[in-house]
Amino acid sequence: MEYKNLLVAKEGGIATITISRPKALNALNAEVIGELYALWKELEADENIRVVIITGDGEKAFVAGADIGELKELDALGGIELSKRGQSLLWNIENSDMVSIAAVNGFALGGGCELALACDIRIASENAQLGQPEVNLGIIPGYGGTQRLTRLVGKGMSKLLTFTGDMADAQEAYRIGLVEKVVPQAELKETVNKIAGKILSKGPKAITAAKRSINAAANTDLDSGLRYEMAEFGAVCATEDSKEGTTAFMEKRKPEFKGR
Ligand code: CAA
Repeated sequence: MEYKNLLVAKEGGIATITISRPKALNALNAEVIGELYALWKELEADENIRVVIITGDGEKAFVAGADIGELKELDALGGIELSKRGQSLLWNIENSDMVSIAAVNGFALGGGCELALACDIRIASENAQLGQPEVNLGIIPGYGGTQRLTRLVGKGMSKLLTFTGDMADAQEAYRIGLVEKVVPQAELKETVNKIAGKILSKGPKAITAAKRSINAAANTDLDSGLRYEMAEFGAVCATEDSKEGTTAFMEKRKPEFKGR
C-alpha cells in the first residue's frame, strides 16, 4: 500500500516508520492515524518483522500532537470517536507481539507524547521536548496520556506536566523516567538501530513473553501479575529456543534462535 504521510523502511527484522507531515510538525490528523492503522496491520502480517522503530521526519519534531485544526469542530460524540480511534491504534502498538521503539527526534507533544508512551521503549535526542500541553487548548489528553504517563512517571509528575502543559526537555524527561536514554541527534538512529538489533538477536518467543508479562504489571495486582509471569515462563520453557539457549550456554557457544 502507498502511504502519503509515512515512510517505511524494512531491513532484516526491523521496520522503521517515519511520520512525515512536515508542514504540521508531523501532527496526527485522521489521515495519518488511518495510515498508521493500515501500516501496523501490514507489519503484523509480515512474520519477518519483530521490531518497529517509530520516528518523525526532519530534525524538529517527532509528532507535535493530534492535528489541532481537526479538534476545533468536535462535539462530545466527535471527541469520543477521535479518542477511541487514537486509543485503539496505540493499544494495538502497545499490545503487539512486535517490539516498538520511539526514536523521539524533537517535539513529542500531546498525541505525539502519547504515541511515544504506547511504544515499549523511548530513546530521545538531546533537542527533544515532551509534554501533554492539551490544557492550553482547553482539552485533556485523549490518546491515553492520562493513563500511560501516570503509570510511567507517577501521579504527581503526570499531574505537574498535564496541569501546567509544560514541556520537559530531554534531560528532564530522562530524569523522570519518561524516556530511557538521551543521545545527540546525530547518534539517535544508530543508537536505536543498535538496541533493535540486540533485541532481534534474542529468542523471539522470550521477547514476546517478557513484553506481555511486563505489560501485565501495569494492568494487574501483584498476585495476578506473578501468576501471569509464571504461565508465560512455563510456556517459554517448552520452546525449542529455550533448549537451544540453555544448551548453547553450557556448550559455550552463541545460540541460534529460531522463534520456535
Ligand atoms: N496540529 C496542527 N498543526 C500544527 C500542530 C498541531 N498539533 N503543531 C504544529 N503545527 C503547525 C503550526 O500550526 C505551523 O503551521 P503554519 O506554518 O502553517 O503556521 C507549523 O506546524 C509549525 O509550527 P510553529 O510555527 O508553531 O512552530 P514553532 O517552532 O514556533 O512551535 C511547537 C513548535 C511548540 C511544537 C508549536 O507548534 C505547538 O505548540 N504546537 C502544538 C502542540 C500541541 O498543543 N499539541 C497537542 C495537540 S492536542 C492533542 O494531541 C490531543 C490528544 O491528546 C488527542
